[in-house]
Amino acid sequence: MKILVTGGAGFIGSHTVVELDRAGFEPVIVDNLYNSNKGVLEGIKKITGKDFPFYEIDCNNADQVRDLFAKEQFDGVIHFAAYKAVGESVEKPLNYYENNIISLLVLLRTMQEFNVPNFVFSSSCTVYGQPDAIPVTENTPRKPATSPYGNTKAIGEDIIRDHTHSKPGIKAISLRYFNPIGAHESSLIGELPNGVPSNLVPFITQTAAGLRKSLTVFGSDYDTPDGTCIRDFIHVVDLAKAHVKALELLQSETEANYYDVFNVGTGEGYTVLQLINTFEEVNGVKLNYTIGPRREGDVEKIYAQSDKVNNIMKWTAEKSIADALRDAWNWQLKITAQ
Ligand code: UD1
Repeated sequence: MKILVTGGAGFIGSHTVVELDRAGFEPVIVDNLYNSNKGVLEGIKKITGKDFPFYEIDCNNADQVRDLFAKEQFDGVIHFAAYKAVGESVEKPLNYYENNIISLLVLLRTMQEFNVPNFVFSSSCTVYGQPDAIPVTENTPRKPATSPYGNTKAIGEDIIRDHTHSKPGIKAISLRYFNPIGAHESSLIGELPNGVPSNLVPFITQTAAGLRKSLTVFGSDYDTPDGTCIRDFIHVVDLAKAHVKALELLQSETEANYYDVFNVGTGEGYTVLQLINTFEEVNGVKLNYTIGPRREGDVEKIYAQSDKVNNIMKWTAEKSIADALRDAWNWQLKITAQ
């Protein structure tokens, strides 16, 4: 089963390539290396012992995508390739709409043309906004997006739903990720943020490694046990495995034009301070941090209700935040030493 992995050199994509291989799929990697680098492919090769086909292609380029589909006979597509920086999306909304939406349209059209039946889409818990009640289920109403980035995920889901309902012969799943953290336990692949990280864990590991002076905790006056935000932090390897389960579900699904959405989280929420404390404990390092003002647009608390993914996909998160923070730190040590 040959699977196109767009954004396969990225953080979640690279871990998914490894898990696809372990499950017996044949991944083909496409990445324009905008927010990733070729070194990741070396890491994948070391872990799997295999050199998967890699194409440096931009998924917005319909001609290149078409040529690729004509060359490789895909059985499915996992579409990670997208811009993902919330703050940048507020400054450059057209870049986000253009990149994230056009690539999706190009892929869906090309899949239809070449009769590729299975599609997995990277969505996000950002589609819930600040929910009225937690944990959130897949039936929790979506809220208007708080950023253009978030809106591209909501629009992406709608496009896929409408498309599958028009009976194109494509089955699809949108996975709503909660907060992916960690790295592969081999320390051969992990997160490689471009510039100053905006996400919490890369900022923590870079600060602990001395690359940043201090971490600012954004807000301590939220309505949570210690006043800091609550998130559902999921190990990236667990998240990668959910993609394999999603593909397997699509393959076994007999309903033509099937479409569904799944939360992919651990089902447990931790505060930012709990995460920091766990990081210090498991790694035996002291983190320099201060409490600062809230960050605009942050959701106070969110975590998944993961019954649907547990029951239907038979997927459960296996790793703890301690595992993820140890793996993230080992990865940081490795890349800092290089
Ligand atoms: C955001 C997006 C999510 C997206 C993810 C990846 C929203 C609501 N969420 O998640 O959809 O997939 O980015 O880019 O748009 N924090 C600090 N100090 C820091 C950095 C973060 O205290 O230096 C706190 C934040 O206030 C937040 C938590 O850590 O409470 C997690 O932040 P972050 O890692 O940026 O992820 P989200 O904002 O949850």
